[in-house]
Amino acid sequence: MTSLVQLLFALIACVLGALYLLGALRRRRPGEPPLDKGPLPWFGHVLEFRRDTVKFLQRMKNKHGDIFTIQLGGNYFTFIMDPLSFGAFVKEARAKLDFSKFAKPLVERVFSYIPLQDDHKFLQTSSTKYLMGDGLVVMTQAMMNNLQNLMLYSVGKGDHKTWQEAGLFSYSYNIVFRAGYLALFGNEPLNTCGNLEKAREMDRVLSEELFHEFRKYDQLFPKLAYGVLGPSERMQVMHLKRLFWNILSVQRVCSRDNISGWVKEQEQDRADQGMEEYMRDRYMFVLLWASQGNTGPSAFWLLLYLMKYPEAMRAVRNEVDKVLEETGQKVKIGGSLINLTRDMLLKTPVLDSTMEETLRLIAAPVLTRGVIKDMSFVMADGRQYNLREGDRVAIFPYTAVQMDPEVHPDPNTFKYDRFLTPDGAKKTDFYKNGKKVKYYSMPWGAGTTMCPGRFFATNEMKQFVFLMLTYFDFELKNPDEEVPEIDVRRWGFGSMQPVRDVQFRYRLRF
Ligand code: HEM
Repeated sequence: MTSLVQLLFALIACVLGALYLLGALRRRRPGEPPLDKGPLPWFGHVLEFRRDTVKFLQRMKNKHGDIFTIQLGGNYFTFIMDPLSFGAFVKEARAKLDFSKFAKPLVERVFSYIPLQDDHKFLQTSSTKYLMGDGLVVMTQAMMNNLQNLMLYSVGKGDHKTWQEAGLFSYSYNIVFRAGYLALFGNEPLNTCGNLEKAREMDRVLSEELFHEFRKYDQLFPKLAYGVLGPSERMQVMHLKRLFWNILSVQRVCSRDNISGWVKEQEQDRADQGMEEYMRDRYMFVLLWASQGNTGPSAFWLLLYLMKYPEAMRAVRNEVDKVLEETGQKVKIGGSLINLTRDMLLKTPVLDSTMEETLRLIAAPVLTRGVIKDMSFVMADGRQYNLREGDRVAIFPYTAVQMDPEVHPDPNTFKYDRFLTPDGAKKTDFYKNGKKVKYYSMPWGAGTTMCPGRFFATNEMKQFVFLMLTYFDFELKNPDEEVPEIDVRRWGFGSMQPVRDVQFRYRLRF
C-alpha cells in the first residue's frame, strides 16, 4: 500500500514537473508581444479567464497594452485588443492564420463530429445559396409560417385573450428556437399526420420537447467546451448527444416536409463525399447548434430593452405600423394573418439600429485563429510583432471595441438610435484616436468564419418582434425590473444569457 502511494506521488510529481517545464521553457523572444504565462504551470491563466473573460482581458490590457500573449491550458494565445488592428487579423491569408486548426478539435470534442477536408467550403456554398439573397425570401416565408403556428394558432379562438405570465427569456428563446428549427429542418410530414391541422399540432408538441432537451445541452455547453465537465455531467452530455443524433438522424430529417435547402444540400454534399451516415447524423446536430444557440437569447434582450426603454418601443412601433400600412396590411379581428416578406424587413432602419445596439451589448464571441507558420503581425500604428507557429491569435471585440467609450460613448447604456444618422439612415462612422474604426461591432465575427446565418438570424428576430408588437399586448410584470446581469460563464461563446429570467405578461389582442 505504502509503495503504491509513493508511486502515485512520484507520478504526480513527474506530471507537475513536466507541465512546469513546458511552461517554464517558454521565453519571450525579441520582437514578440509581452508574454504572461500566468500563475499555474501549463494551465496558465485559464481559471481567471474562465471565471470572467471580460475582467481578465481588461486587466491584461491595462498591464500589457494592445497586444499580449497569455498561456491558457497549454496553449499560447496572443490577444489583439486594438480595434484599428483587427483588419490585419481578419484579412490575413489562411496560409498564415487559419481558423480550422483551432475549430476542428473543438468541434470534435463538443459534437463528436469529424469534418471532411472540404467541410467549410460546403457550408459556405450552401449558406450563400440558401441563407442570403434570394434564398432568404424562401427562408423568411418558412420562418413566418412557423412563427404563426407557434404564436398565433389560437388567434380568433378567443381562448388566449387573458393575460399569461411567463419568463421573458424562456418565452423568447422557446419561440425563436422552435420556429427557426422548423424553418430549417422542416415540418412533420402531412402524409403521416393525416391533415395539416394535425401536422401543425405535432410540430408544436415535438419542437417543444426538442427545445427542452436543447436547453439542457446549452446549459452544459461552456463547461463542455472548456473540457471541465464532472463525471455525471459527462454522462448527461453523452446521453443528450445520442438523443439529438437520433431525433435529427438523416433518415428522420429527410422524411420531413419543407426541409430547407441549407440542411438538405449540406446533407447531400456529405453523402456524396462518402461520409458515413452516423457521422452525417452528428452533423445535423452541429447545424442545429450553430443555428439555434444565439438567436433566441438575442431576441430576449431585444424585447427586454424595448420594454425598458419606452422611447425605443415607440420608435420601433411607429416603424412597424408604417411598414404594415405601406403594404396595405392591417391586423383586425377576423382578418387574415399579416405576412412579412423579406422586402418589408429591409425597410426598418430603426429596428435595425435597435438590434445592432442590443447585439453590441450582449454578443461576445472570442474569434480565434491558429498560427500556421512563423509570421509577423503589423499593428495599425506600424508596430510589428513576431508570432510563433503553433500559437493562437485571438480577438475579443466585446472588450476591445463594443465597450470602448471612445468608440461608443457611454458604452454601458442602451441607446436604440446609436446606429442611426441624424437623417435616419444606418450609421457606420465610429472613431478612435481620430481614425475611423471599420470593425466597430462584431456580433457575427468576421472574415472567413463570419456567421453565414446573420441575415437569416436578423430576419428571424425582426419577424418575432413584428408579431409581438402587432398581435400582443405585453409588459414587464414589474415595470421597475432591472435589466439582469449577464452570465459571465458564457463569455466568448456568442450571444450572452442573463443570470436570471425576467417575468412579463402578454395577451393576444385579437
Ligand atoms: C443572433 C444570432 C447569431 C449570432 C450572434 C451568431 C454569431 C456567430 C458567430 C460569432 C460565429 C463565429 C464566428 C467566428 O468564429 O469567427 C458564428 C458562426 C456560425 N453561425 Fe452564427 N450567429 C447567429 C445565428 C446564426 C444562424 C441563425 C445560423 C444559421 C441559420 C448561424 C450559422 C452559423 C454557422 C454555420 C457558423 C459557423 C461558420 C463557420 O465556421 O464558418 N448562425 N455565428
